[in-house]
Amino acid sequence: MCNFFKCPECGQVMSLPSCSCGYTVEYKNGIYHLTDAPYIIKEDSADIKYIGYEDIGEYYSGKSLFDKINIDGIYTKTAEIIGNGVLLDLACGDGLFTVPLAALGISVISMDISDKMLSLLYKRAEIAGIEPSRFTLCRANALDIPLIDNSVDAVIANSMLHLLSKPEIVVGEIHRVLKKGGKFIAFDDKPNGGDSIDNFTEEEKAENNKTGEFIGFIHHRYFEILKNEYNINGTRYSWKFDREKVCSDMFSDKKIYSVENKRNKDKIKFKDAFIYRMGGKGFSDQSDVPYDIHKSVFERVMCEFTSKYGTEVLDTVETFYAGFRDTGITVYIK
Ligand SMILES: C[S@@+](CC[C@H](N)C(=O)[O-])C[C@H]1O[C@@H](n2cnc3c(N)ncnc32)[C@H](O)[C@@H]1O
Repeated sequence: MCNFFKCPECGQVMSLPSCSCGYTVEYKNGIYHLTDAPYIIKEDSADIKYIGYEDIGEYYSGKSLFDKINIDGIYTKTAEIIGNGVLLDLACGDGLFTVPLAALGISVISMDISDKMLSLLYKRAEIAGIEPSRFTLCRANALDIPLIDNSVDAVIANSMLHLLSKPEIVVGEIHRVLKKGGKFIAFDDKPNGGDSIDNFTEEEKAENNKTGEFIGFIHHRYFEILKNEYNINGTRYSWKFDREKVCSDMFSDKKIYSVENKRNKDKIKFKDAFIYRMGGKGFSDQSDVPYDIHKSVFERVMCEFTSKYGTEVLDTVETFYAGFRDTGITVYIK
């Protein structure tokens, strides 16, 4: 067990679960509880806001959670970059990175603010046949990482910086807990920001455009009705966060690796993917929408959608070619 955790009681270095000060970290359902911070902070008066996924839970990955993760080039390249070191998967969610990297032999400490997401990570690991002893799960706040300075070799914080009102504090925390020479491995923090479509065929582009039109219609109408009739706006804290600028100022070096990978065509039906997630209030920008309002607005939008495009499209495969898997992995080096 790693000996670089920070005791939540006295702040001194400790190994889990007990500190020399006498404090013992609570361990429940396979999760070490290293914070009592709330799942979500959204009050206007709060200094820093963030959206934990406790209420999103299973709607985040939807039915794809039950598909065994395909260990493709992005994971093998990441494992190669990490080497023998210890990885912190910060805001690990339901284990999109923890599980395949543990399967590849990486030693992983996984942290998230949401108990629900951490419990789903166990589910994903079980489906993948990965022993839980291969990773350490912690409920922790990324704004105050419970590790001492210079403790881990690599950090991944995928798709989470946009969920906080002050993401630069998390980047500072990542830098603090990395050893000298340690690596912050970044994929794509801005939703839709990393897709490289240049090398798609015309047919692939057309399929992506069609899916984009369906998603755009539903998302646009949903938030249009909420704004016009209920005065509710989507919650977006830091979608425009300039990770590159903040990291380039803070880290001493940077490397970009390119992953040669086959384009990944999701094979899941539209109704089981985007519609399932949006219908379950599974996107962070829906976090402030009261459930009863969400339900009636979403039903209305789906009626409009099916009368425009037909009900058959719900059963079609959501053809989205995830281009970011063909582009680089940016590694900021401390
Ligand atoms: C979009 S999910 C990404 C999950 C995973 N990294 C992935 O790539 O699939 C964002 C995750 O950030 C977590 N999160 C949000 N605010 C957090 C905070 N302050 N501390 C730790 N985790 C947080 C949420 O609970 C959620 O699981």
